[in-house]
Amino acid sequence: MNQLFVTAPQPTLKRVADLDGPDFYPTPAWATYALIDNEKFHGDIWECACGDGAMSSVLSRTGQNVESSDLYDRGFGEPGIDFRETNRTATNIITNPPFNAAEDFVHTALKVADKKFALLLRLAFLEGAKRRSTIFSKAPPSRVWVFSERITFYPKGVKRKGSGTTAYAWFVWDKDHCGGTELSWLPTGYKKMDFN
Ligand SMILES: C[S@@+](CC[C@H](N)C(=O)[O-])C[C@H]1O[C@@H](n2cnc3c(N)ncnc32)[C@H](O)[C@@H]1O
Repeated sequence: MNQLFVTAPQPTLKRVADLDGPDFYPTPAWATYALIDNEKFHGDIWECACGDGAMSSVLSRTGQNVESSDLYDRGFGEPGIDFRETNRTATNIITNPPFNAAEDFVHTALKVADKKFALLLRLAFLEGAKRRSTIFSKAPPSRVWVFSERITFYPKGVKRKGSGTTAYAWFVWDKDHCGGTELSWLPTGYKKMDFN
């Protein structure tokens, strides 16, 4: 008897350096703007994995003071700061962390952010038995802003084409929040905004 093999659709574009290496993928400006247009931050903001400053430059639009650092020297912000090891505190923290250290970034930010921290993560970060026990059962996010439009990440300098296949969301932990996790959907229209 012939066996029928069915192959699941494969993503056409993905962050190929996700699993090892420094994972340097600048965030498109519209994806950062979608956060600050919907979530208010009062006080200083620390972009603690700033890369080349793609996110920091949009965060300056909040009118708040923005500090920037990265483990690597990418010509922007303060290099040599490993966020996983830091004791430095900040009023607010906003970043798109390296994929392979996302959990560590949550644990550190829970300790060092005084008010709010927001991490741009895959929506699938919500899944997983380990994360349920180490993060979500103890310190669930206050809000999850799901992107209605797909973000496409490109390594620095790569020609932009096509569309991403991975769903992302802003995960926000707010020390003043009471109650459970709020799930919200970001409005559409941000992706076509021109930030040049
Ligand atoms: C996905 S990129 C995002 C860059 C920037 N946040 C943005 O959104 O455009 C992740 C960044 O994390 C930095 N990084 C990796 N490990 C780090 C660590 N342990 N502490 C601080 N930064 C780190 C990488 O150098 C890289 O610039």
